[in-house]
Amino acid sequence: VLALVQFLQKLWNSYLVNEGRIDMKTILITGVTGFVGSSLAANFLHQGHRVVALSRHDPEGERTKQAVKTACTGFSISHAAINWSNLVVVPIDYKRVNDLTQQPSLPSIDEAWHVAAEMTYSSKKFVGAFQQNLTATGELYEVLNDHAPNCRRFYYISTAYTGGFSKKVIEERIHTNPQLVNVYQASKWATETSLFIKGHEMRLPVTILRPSIVIGHEQTGWSGYNSFGMYSLIAAILTGVEQGAREITLDLKEAVKNNVIPINDLVENALKLSEKDALQEKVEIFNAVAVESLPLTTSLDIVSKILNIKISLGRPKTLFDRVIHSVGRHNLEFARTEWKFTNDRLMTVLGPEFKPTCMTYDKLFHIIAKFIEKRQAAHAPFKQAAFLKKLGLVAKIALHKFAQRRSKEAQETA
Ligand SMILES: NC(=O)c1ccc[n+]([C@@H]2O[C@H](COP(=O)([O-])OP(=O)(O)OC[C@H]3O[C@@H](n4cnc5c(N)ncnc54)[C@H](OP(=O)(O)O)[C@@H]3O)[C@@H](O)[C@H]2O)c1
Repeated sequence: VLALVQFLQKLWNSYLVNEGRIDMKTILITGVTGFVGSSLAANFLHQGHRVVALSRHDPEGERTKQAVKTACTGFSISHAAINWSNLVVVPIDYKRVNDLTQQPSLPSIDEAWHVAAEMTYSSKKFVGAFQQNLTATGELYEVLNDHAPNCRRFYYISTAYTGGFSKKVIEERIHTNPQLVNVYQASKWATETSLFIKGHEMRLPVTILRPSIVIGHEQTGWSGYNSFGMYSLIAAILTGVEQGAREITLDLKEAVKNNVIPINDLVENALKLSEKDALQEKVEIFNAVAVESLPLTTSLDIVSKILNIKISLGRPKTLFDRVIHSVGRHNLEFARTEWKFTNDRLMTVLGPEFKPTCMTYDKLFHIIAKFIEKRQAAHAPFKQAAFLKKLGLVAKIALHKFAQRRSKEAQETA
């Protein structure tokens, strides 16, 4: 039966491609070992396209293939529905992007999705972040501009937060004088600006797609390897709970809303953009954001219900509260701010095919529950170790004292 199903699926895929229902494209994607890139690759492959994945540190391509398989599962796409020979992994050294000019697959590339990015916030990694996000992106664009004559568009996945802290509303355009607070935000802004100029001056058109906070799949809850945005705050709370904290006080504002977009909405709109390629302008900027968001306190309420703990808002009270604030200070700054985005341009371009994000309490509960379930399973000790590594000496001592106090309390209770 399985063989018959596989055969029929292959027949159907080949019908889709060959009968002209879709044009088979060759799509170059970077960042396929990550959450967003693997999701895009899985869905493009599922549509019958060919994917050329540029991956670093993966000479045999196994890590990349495994990531795409995992993303297929996350999207409930049967592995048998994919023609795996359509996935080609090409090694890349981002310090030597120009080596790609020797790649025989370049003339076959129809479009490129540049997803890979250095996501650090740390100013200590300033040089590396700008080298990757600004310089290597510009070089990749130029290689495709000059050596991939059939490449019709360069899609760049940026972030909706390049607008910075000072803007009342973040619009779908290049931001001038943004107030940027970390290396990630700054290097993404610089890259957008550079691509904006290149896209106008050179042959290859550019689309900048800016997601807000990407969260798990709304049906399966799958969130890949993501520990970014909302997940980093939950991960910090989870580590506190693993250390024995039952009451956590976070210095956040009650009214602030959480602009989150499930990965399936992001991918669906990205795929529609790819289909509309010929209708688009030379350089375009879109915000991939939720129009209506739930308050941040809804996420905290969900976390407290799942973990059976109390989360309040206010000044940090315990040592562990202070540790969470110290570790998560950069993300807390974003979480305390009321962000407003427009996405009229994306809506206009996609028309009735635009997939809006309609986040409900139940959907968010499911997504957060899946993340916590995954974190509490096998990888929790490893993640905890990674979290502890990030702490400075003072925070480590505070955490140690906190754990000692907890164990003394537990002994006294016993
Ligand atoms: N997740 C979100 O909430 C969110 C929100 C807005 C925008 N975005 C954007 O979406 C993109 C992908 O994010 P993601 O959530 O998929 O992240 P992810 O799961 O951490 O994946 C990051 C990808 O980039 C590659 N990468 C990381 N550091 C790199 C470096 N220094 N040099 C070269 N490649 C590097 C990784 O390759 P390795 O496996 O080799 O490390 C991986 O393929 C990024 O451009 C990010 O700015 C994400």
